[in-house]
Amino acid sequence: MVRRYLLEHNAPDIDDYLRLRADTGLTPKTAKQAEPIFENSWMWVRAIEKDSGQTVGMGRVISDSGWCCLIADMATDPAHQRRGIGRAVLEELLSEILTSAPDNPYIVLLADAPGRPLYQSMGFVETAPHSIGMQYVPDKTPTQ
Ligand SMILES: CC(C)(COP(=O)(O)OP(=O)(O)OC[C@H]1O[C@@H](n2cnc3c(N)ncnc32)[C@H](O)[C@@H]1OP(=O)(O)O)[C@@H](O)C(=O)NCCC(=O)NCCS
Repeated sequence: MVRRYLLEHNAPDIDDYLRLRADTGLTPKTAKQAEPIFENSWMWVRAIEKDSGQTVGMGRVISDSGWCCLIADMATDPAHQRRGIGRAVLEELLSEILTSAPDNPYIVLLADAPGRPLYQSMGFVETAPHSIGMQYVPDKTPTQ
């Protein structure tokens, strides 16, 4: 990641979180949906642009602290994409899981198209046909 950015092991503030989700094309969330996630996630990493102090990237891990980890909310501000931020955020998340969790953690994510090349390049493989991701949507279109 270029020297212009700094990585921190903490969460974005709620406004940055909501902005990054909306600006990167992830489904927008409400403040009420977002409020509990900062304390209740196992780990956060955010990327800050040094000059402006602006939060420009993020990712988090939801974990049971035993064997199961879900990586979520990987997003880089469109004006700062393709500069290594997403890769650096994911490397930090993976490193912390592999350092802290018991052997052989089950590390999963649901990969939207923009993230797939990054995830594949970092060792993630498709789980199908053994397992496929499913979402409970009895009466509407799937969302993330
Ligand atoms: C996925 C995302 C977080 C990657 O962030 P990023 O900061 O741009 O990632 P990086 O600069 O570290 O890129 C890492 C690698 O991902 C791949 N990649 C990233 N953007 C890509 C694109 N638009 N097209 C093809 N490959 C891409 C490349 O392999 C890249 O490595 P390279 O630049 O050395 O070729 C970012 O594209 C994003 O926020 N997308 C919208 C939100 C989203 O869909 N998030 C994923 C949800 S599962």
